[in-house]
Amino acid sequence: MVKVTYITHDGDQITVEAAEGDSVMSAAIAEGLDGIVGECGGSMMCATCHCYLDPDWADRAGSRADGEDDMLDSAVCDVTDRSRLSCQIRLTAELDGLVVHLPEEQV
Ligand code: FES
Repeated sequence: MVKVTYITHDGDQITVEAAEGDSVMSAAIAEGLDGIVGECGGSMMCATCHCYLDPDWADRAGSRADGEDDMLDSAVCDVTDRSRLSCQIRLTAELDGLVVHLPEEQV
């Protein structure tokens, strides 16, 4: 199992355990977390799974997938160099302890 901590816009921290191969988006949805919508189910068609990588993880969580930049353009909140579509981050053992921050809103 891989632990992921989500930090909400209000500063609440929620840590969940998910299986390797799950996405950061699907792990959040499975826990019923507010803050990630995942409207398209992970097919990179909506940007309602926008998250910000914690600075400590920015270099370790891989780079954006093809097309991710374009879809992030439709994110509701500001996009930064740490912005990712959480559906495109697959959990691996190397990402155990990953921390992501959630935007104020997704839609
Ligand atoms: S869930 Fe739609 S782009 Fe990630």
